[in-house]
Amino acid sequence: MSLNFQNEALSDSSFHSKTSGMLIPILESMTVEEKIGQMSQFFGHTEHISEHLAFSIRQGRVGSILNEVRLDTVNELQRLAVEESRLGIPLLIGRDVIHGFNTIFPIPLGQAASWCPETVKQCAHISALEASTAGVNWTFAPMIDISRDPRWGRIAESLGEDPYLCSVLGVAMVEGFQGDELHKNGSIASCAKHFAGYGAGESGRDYSTTNIPENELRNVYLPPFKAAADAGVATFMSAFSDLNGVPASGNKWLMTDILRQEWDYKGFVVSDWESIQQLTTHGFSKDNKDAAYEAANAGIDMEMVSSTYLDHLPELLTEGRIDIKQIDIAVTKILQLKWQLGLFESPYTDASLLPMPVNSHHLQIAKDAAIKSCVLLKNDKNILPLSPDRLSSVAIIGPLADDPYEQLGTWIFDGDSQHSQTCLTAIEHELLGKARTHHVKAMQTSRSHDHSDFKQAVETAMAADIAILILGEESILSGEAHCRAEIGLPGCQEQLIDAIAQTGTPIVLVIMAGRPLTIETVLPKVAAVLYAWHPGTMGGPAISDLLFGKASPSGKLPVTFPRKVGQVPIYYAQKHSGKPATEAAFIHMDDIPVHSPQTSLGMAATHLDTHFSPLFPFGFGLSYTQFSYQNLQLSHKILHLGETLIIGVLLTNTGDTYGEEIAQLYIRDLVGSVTRPVKELKDFKRVKLAAGKSEWVTFELSTDKLAFYDRHNQLVTEAGQFQLWLGGCSQTGLLDEFEIIDA
Ligand code: NOJ
Repeated sequence: MSLNFQNEALSDSSFHSKTSGMLIPILESMTVEEKIGQMSQFFGHTEHISEHLAFSIRQGRVGSILNEVRLDTVNELQRLAVEESRLGIPLLIGRDVIHGFNTIFPIPLGQAASWCPETVKQCAHISALEASTAGVNWTFAPMIDISRDPRWGRIAESLGEDPYLCSVLGVAMVEGFQGDELHKNGSIASCAKHFAGYGAGESGRDYSTTNIPENELRNVYLPPFKAAADAGVATFMSAFSDLNGVPASGNKWLMTDILRQEWDYKGFVVSDWESIQQLTTHGFSKDNKDAAYEAANAGIDMEMVSSTYLDHLPELLTEGRIDIKQIDIAVTKILQLKWQLGLFESPYTDASLLPMPVNSHHLQIAKDAAIKSCVLLKNDKNILPLSPDRLSSVAIIGPLADDPYEQLGTWIFDGDSQHSQTCLTAIEHELLGKARTHHVKAMQTSRSHDHSDFKQAVETAMAADIAILILGEESILSGEAHCRAEIGLPGCQEQLIDAIAQTGTPIVLVIMAGRPLTIETVLPKVAAVLYAWHPGTMGGPAISDLLFGKASPSGKLPVTFPRKVGQVPIYYAQKHSGKPATEAAFIHMDDIPVHSPQTSLGMAATHLDTHFSPLFPFGFGLSYTQFSYQNLQLSHKILHLGETLIIGVLLTNTGDTYGEEIAQLYIRDLVGSVTRPVKELKDFKRVKLAAGKSEWVTFELSTDKLAFYDRHNQLVTEAGQFQLWLGGCSQTGLLDEFEIIDA
């Protein structure tokens, strides 16, 4: 053991001096086995603490437990570690607290649609408070994988397609989980995952291979991770996926060169579930020993669930393939987090010191988050909001109208659907004494192909003034390993819409789903569409308030909606290409004359069988009021590198009701040493405006915010011409230009 080295690691400036003082003697007294034990995370969720687990903890061979949330058991596990192991080192208790613990908030993609960092932070804070009551001190969130493929089930867990939005909201989540200080009651460590590129799997299949050029990786996929690292996220998780031929859990370039050396990240990296062992399945390592070598050498500090470290690191050390210095660095970082969490001083959890989970405040925040995350996609003739006074009978139809479980979404291990308030209950409550309500489920599940209840649904719709259809995807159709090749409404839902549309009763369609669905063919048949994602525990009251105008929709899409799955990947920040799609160049295959000769004239980057535009663009979302943007002003038309551009616009609520607008600032760097996206989000603000009121909205854009990785993969800001748009969506907005010249 190298004492000098340990002092070097522990005297790093990131360590609190008290931390160093406390940890040096511990590290110095640890055996190699105890050190490797700290680097090992065990699966804990079994009926009873197994003899094997208890023995391993007593032997100091366990650094963390995953998925045990029964408080008595967690406290007993801590007792075994603290009182019965030689060095008394407490345990990290990890759990996937993704969008709530007992109170379930909208899925992360829904939260992203709020474009509201404060809301996202609040949801994470409450999740942390509730998880803490079970002794959980570490969550595996946020998932900040850029997600541009709605086939991928985990898009539900993401913050969408845009590096900037994802960075801002990812940081908000980290801050919410971790609080001001990790050691405070109710703060838990968070984890930036999955480093890196996991969202770019081929054909949107989970775990599949990713090939991402370094330049794209740096400009698109890495920025949210860099932002999380800078914000002090306690840990990182390596992805399952193979990145350009080197699986992330054995990728030294990612884990060491970029994360530790370039970014100077001081926290630790945990592997994803058995992903070290899977290095052999990938065909990257010949056996588990080789896998342990590759992972440790890459810089993975803790192994989740598989035991290649426990089984093989001692031998690899003896053989000299792994240096004890590497182990000391990993262990130091793990001990440091335990120290920061205050676990050495208070390893046990007393839930009575924390607020009760699912209390009324938590439910109110859940409702507010769900309101902010719903996106109004269509509202013909302002059919919404509905006025109860003008209705005598309302049909509420669909398999998701009254399903407490299915509104919660993916990753809800600890959510209890008994707390859920459904749309049916909330709408019935809203209309009590005002209008009659009739509910028909029509389909047993969202996937059902059985039409036998359609007749009843049609009759009910026919007798009503309005039919509210609550459709979409059940929770299990998105999330990890739940990817789809077709992303339309599942089962016979579209036929149900057809049948009800024929009654002539106007349809208000509410969609709960874990991803963007291809609903192009549905749109003409319905009067309004409210996209609610999986809205969580308080989805029902939130949706009811929106439908009946107690709240105005303000969510904006954090991800582009394709018309057809064949357009995927489709995202707003695409490159222009040498033959960009234009209306003039677009021709539908049905309009091509027979025997047309082949020509390259007028050809463009389009499909023959669908328009090149998305169904709904990134940043889109309607309100019950209208907003106008006027008088765009820029502080400079020319600015030097290093200066800051001030941008102002007069935003007016021109409608007759209160509303909240998300003003979005985009730029285009017209010429770059590598081609630049046609638009890039650079800032946004949520603005609250009463009817008829205006507000001067300003943004500051320093030229540093225009930096990107150039063709040598160096971060640069290049002089040149820029376009700038300010508006309520990625496809609209007032346009101006500015120029940057060298300092
Ligand atoms: C696998 C998932 O990929 C990861 O996100 C999660 O945190 C771990 N399992 C632990 O459950």
